[in-house]
Amino acid sequence: MSQDATRCWRLDTPGQTLVLAARPIAFARGAEDGALGMPEAIYWGPALPEGEDLADLAAAAVIDVTGGMLDAPPPLSICPEAGRSFPGQPGLVVAEADGAPLLPAFRLSAAEDGDGTLTFTCTDPALGLSYVARFAAVPATGVIETAAAIEADRPLRLHWLAAPVLPGPQLADEMIDFAGRWCGEFQPVRSPWSAGIRARDNPTGRTDHSHFPGLFLPGRGATNTGGEAHALHYGWSGGHRMLAEELPDGRRQIQFGHAAGSEREAAPRFETATLCLAFSTQGLNGCAVAFQRHLRDRVVPWPDPARPRPVHYNCWEAVYFRHDLAELKDIASRAADLGAERFVLDDGWFGRRDDDTTSLGDWDIDRRKFPDGFGPLVEHIHGLGMTFGLWFEPEMVNEASELFRHHPDWRLGPVSQIPGRQQYVLDLSRAEVREHLFQKIDAVLGSCDVDYVKWDHNRVLPAPDAAQARGFYALLDLLRAAHPGVEFESCASGGGRIDFGVLSRSHRVWLSDSNDALERLRIQRDAALFLPMAVTGSHVGPRTCHTSGRVLDIRFRAWVAAQRHMGFEMDPRELTADEAAVLREVTGWWKANRDWTVRADILRLDSADPAIIAEQQMAEDGSRFVVFAGRAATSVQISPRPLRLTRLDPAARYRVELINRGDAPGPSRGSPTLKSRPLSLSGAALMGRGVTLPWAFPETMWVLEGVRL
Ligand code: DGJ
Repeated sequence: MSQDATRCWRLDTPGQTLVLAARPIAFARGAEDGALGMPEAIYWGPALPEGEDLADLAAAAVIDVTGGMLDAPPPLSICPEAGRSFPGQPGLVVAEADGAPLLPAFRLSAAEDGDGTLTFTCTDPALGLSYVARFAAVPATGVIETAAAIEADRPLRLHWLAAPVLPGPQLADEMIDFAGRWCGEFQPVRSPWSAGIRARDNPTGRTDHSHFPGLFLPGRGATNTGGEAHALHYGWSGGHRMLAEELPDGRRQIQFGHAAGSEREAAPRFETATLCLAFSTQGLNGCAVAFQRHLRDRVVPWPDPARPRPVHYNCWEAVYFRHDLAELKDIASRAADLGAERFVLDDGWFGRRDDDTTSLGDWDIDRRKFPDGFGPLVEHIHGLGMTFGLWFEPEMVNEASELFRHHPDWRLGPVSQIPGRQQYVLDLSRAEVREHLFQKIDAVLGSCDVDYVKWDHNRVLPAPDAAQARGFYALLDLLRAAHPGVEFESCASGGGRIDFGVLSRSHRVWLSDSNDALERLRIQRDAALFLPMAVTGSHVGPRTCHTSGRVLDIRFRAWVAAQRHMGFEMDPRELTADEAAVLREVTGWWKANRDWTVRADILRLDSADPAIIAEQQMAEDGSRFVVFAGRAATSVQISPRPLRLTRLDPAARYRVELINRGDAPGPSRGSPTLKSRPLSLSGAALMGRGVTLPWAFPETMWVLEGVRL
């Protein structure tokens, strides 16, 4: 059959086009009756003109056949098929329930083209299998969502199902995926493209600090602010697997799906999580902004989107497990005086939880600590004008707990497993376990006026387990339905469960257990490749950081927290009058600006000096911005290098002002103008030359506000 029979479809967001084509099957099963094969993503890149001839585009993408190849190149389809001798990793590895492997060969049986959506159904009638892929373009955010499912007329064993597979760019030399650790989340890892596979397979059963499920593919020469970039994020909380493969013929493919071994039972249907795609010609920032907007405006189910993000106070690093009513009231009063608007009672309020060896699972208020329940504390907190938030770790159990004594069989995994933080995971795939947890947590939430839950998860799973992740989602969904006004924060020893899957049912993430502003500055910058300010919790920690021992000035601690969803997490009784005044002032600035910063794009700046970690938060309408330039280290050279801004209107003029110029230290003896007055410069000048900031000590932050004139 001729190429003319090829069918093509396109999806567009501003600046991005994805074209899919289904070609007549060559040689294999289906060729005889002229069937079309699985669609292939033949183009993913800059926006194409409206009238682009897609059939010719598909024809232009056909690669030649030469020595050492099969007689037709096996298609790099949205689910590359082993049954068609695909020379790389297949998109589906499936077997009969008894383990006998299947080699499906799909044909396209239906394609629905809706308003910005595409649904493809492919079948293998001989094997009684169907595969469905869905795509949806969201022009308002710049993201294309996609997911896949397979279905059979009998239970099958699934070893691997990739979300629809995308081609990797060939004019690109490297990729960026993400590693990390406790107190060191979102560490970008740059690897060169080369023959074979770069694989990430997360064995922890949760998203985890060490395996954030995202990938950036910078084109050759791309920076934060310029050049081409593709990016992907897999929104799943059970641990992902990623493959970035260069085939012997030079083609490149990207696959994302659940971690190996996730599906432990045979079943007639399996589905992937949603894979989000972004493309930009404006550097990594273009993709980052698409993800930030998409997460904030499309993914997170805000109970009340108009409600300003409240300043948090969290008592963890002030009192840990020592919950004393009088002390907590005193701390709450001081926190309110500093500007806090939500008081969060962290771990330690339930069972007999005096340390981390006991009581997880016993979700009853500890009457030794709160003889009259939460009433007196909540009344005090409300009296101060704050709302009340509460910590839970629902999926966990200590052996030293009533729950474990009654239900030892509810533990997930083998008895011989190694505990984590003296705790075990409850089997949330079991309906009775979810029901029990729902009843207990629902009762606590119903007994007092709570508007926020910090949902923790402080250990990895015994093994990857998609049923557990689905059970977690089901429990959280039940609680959200019963308490629609409550906001949930996803925490897992800090940033161990951050992904768009959990964020489609929660409202904030605890980015890291590190309240060390120096470490946070870096973590926040790299997390902004995916996360907007609205969901990214950031707290002012103690003067001497509890996780690093570093002593940092209150100005630096406060400004770093003010870059995201601000809060405090130190004992306010340690603050000197000067420190309290600084904190009040920065919190006041944050509140005065949050109406626009919460919707601002976070743009990572390309700093000429590696000691400076800088970002520009750009208002949605372009009328204003704020630049945070953090000095993470002492520079190699004497004078600060100019810092170039981005995404301004070259022809417009901007008034730029260093709002904390009073913080210039003694050794800054010269007179850069920003130390004494604002400057008025064109966007072209601010982007082309940049601003010269005054000299500063390491571990300090300059804050530069800009207003379009
Ligand atoms: C780990 C969290 O990340 C901390 O913020 C705190 O909530 C503790 N768990 C409590 O056990």
